[in-house]
Amino acid sequence: MAGNREFFNRKLHSLLGVIPVGVFLIQHLVVNHFATRGEEAFNSASHFMESLPFRYLLEIFVIFLPLLYHAIYGLYIAFTAKNNTSKYSYFRNWMFYIQRITGVITLIFLVWHVWETRIQAAMGADVNFQMMENILANPFMLAFYIIGVLSAIFHFANGLWSFMVSWGITVSPRSQVISTYVTLGIFVALSIVGIRAIFAFV
Ligand code: HEM
Repeated sequence: MAGNREFFNRKLHSLLGVIPVGVFLIQHLVVNHFATRGEEAFNSASHFMESLPFRYLLEIFVIFLPLLYHAIYGLYIAFTAKNNTSKYSYFRNWMFYIQRITGVITLIFLVWHVWETRIQAAMGADVNFQMMENILANPFMLAFYIIGVLSAIFHFANGLWSFMVSWGITVSPRSQVISTYVTLGIFVALSIVGIRAIFAFV
């Protein structure tokens, strides 16, 4: 019975990392990338997202609760999991180790980022291009944002690899090698989008 519950929790954790949390991450990076087209383009893209119908319901059920579950169960895995050196390669064990570290870095970054933007917006601040420009004018915050964004992207891309194994999509060793290259490509592509967006505010 306890084994069943653990199995269900693992599967749910894995799924939520991709849908909806991973999908939201991509959408968020794409909206931020509008900053490369200037202040007005970014403000209208982000105000469009803010004006979506059922905004609070979407934020709570599509972003906040799935992320909270994934983060809490992720912390449990990160601090209890052991590397599986006999089943997986040296490289994959390293990737799993970095997966746990980037999960923790992403959590620290997200708590700060949500406080600085979404919570401030709820308290009446106008979250816009200028606000991000002010935040990123501080070199310490710029470094923090670069590390946080790259860490979230690595965690998502490498997580896609293990998601495909968990859900039986990549079963053969060959398909797992191919998915290593595909997820590496996703990491590089999303990193370019994320870093370009950050530097558009600087
Ligand atoms: C932007 C936010 C996040 C995204 C997009 C994300 C995405 C993912 C994905 C897709 C997976 C792979 C699921 C699988 O292995 O089948 C994963 C795994 C994992 N996540 Fe996250 N995650 C995020 C935040 C976090 C946070 C805040 C933590 C907290 C520490 C965390 C901890 C973990 C851990 C430990 C795993 C490995 C699970 C395992 O392989 O057994 N994640 N994540």
